[in-house]
Amino acid sequence: MTKLRVQSFAISIDGYGAGPNQDLQNPLGVRGPELMEWFLTTRAWRRMHGHDDGETGVDNGLAEQGFNGIGAWILGRNMFGPVRGPWPDDSWKGWWGPNPPYHVPVFVLTHHARAPIAMQGGTTFHFVTDGIAAALAAARAAAGDKDVRLGGGVATIRAYLAAGLIDEMHLAIAPVLLGAGEPLLAGLDVTRLGYRVNEHVPSPAATHVVLTRAG
Ligand SMILES: NC(=O)c1ccc[n+]([C@@H]2O[C@H](COP(=O)([O-])OP(=O)(O)OC[C@H]3O[C@@H](n4cnc5c(N)ncnc54)[C@H](OP(=O)(O)O)[C@@H]3O)[C@@H](O)[C@H]2O)c1
Repeated sequence: MTKLRVQSFAISIDGYGAGPNQDLQNPLGVRGPELMEWFLTTRAWRRMHGHDDGETGVDNGLAEQGFNGIGAWILGRNMFGPVRGPWPDDSWKGWWGPNPPYHVPVFVLTHHARAPIAMQGGTTFHFVTDGIAAALAAARAAAGDKDVRLGGGVATIRAYLAAGLIDEMHLAIAPVLLGAGEPLLAGLDVTRLGYRVNEHVPSPAATHVVLTRAG
């Protein structure tokens, strides 16, 4: 059975996976980019932006691992963009420009139907309106013998966690306090849901923790 994996999902010391007030200027919410500083110096990130340099240690190893063996992604609609409610038109095609960094089918959970969008480089955004199980089934079918990566955001990961559907979750705990934003684990008893800390690796920029679900 292939896995549903969360990779490189960054949280603050106080547990926020995004800052408050996401909008066009603040895709990760206010102060959200502070969560991702560990990632922005990695070779994985630099290569995604056309550069051949970057850190190649612990942070990069985990960042690269997050793209290995992935055949499809699932995103929540707010990770896909800042547009809320019914789609006013077809102009919003994600934060990532004409050639998004996915290169496989991406299933976007939303309550508002929309036709698929084929982008350059192999990414197609499919909009799923019938819930998390349907999105996972579609992503699994598209991924074949590869894993499915659950990109986020926070509400979407919480829903899959609560349903016990995530097999593996790599969190990068950034050494910052946000004070406000979208809390990842608040109110979720992840131990009762079967999750255990399986690995923890520090780097100067983050503490990496991998949770896995037993049985
Ligand atoms: N820390 C990190 O590493 C990281 C990684 C990725 C993203 N993020 C950040 O996380 C934030 C977004 O997280 P979020 O919690 O605001 O939102 P989200 O999880 O990205 O999206 C939530 C939205 O997805 C749709 N949705 C979710 N479940 C659904 C279901 N079962 N059926 C139908 N629609 C469903 C709904 O949209 P509608 O009802 O409006 O259609 C819902 O409001 C962004 O700031 C993003 O940058 C952080």
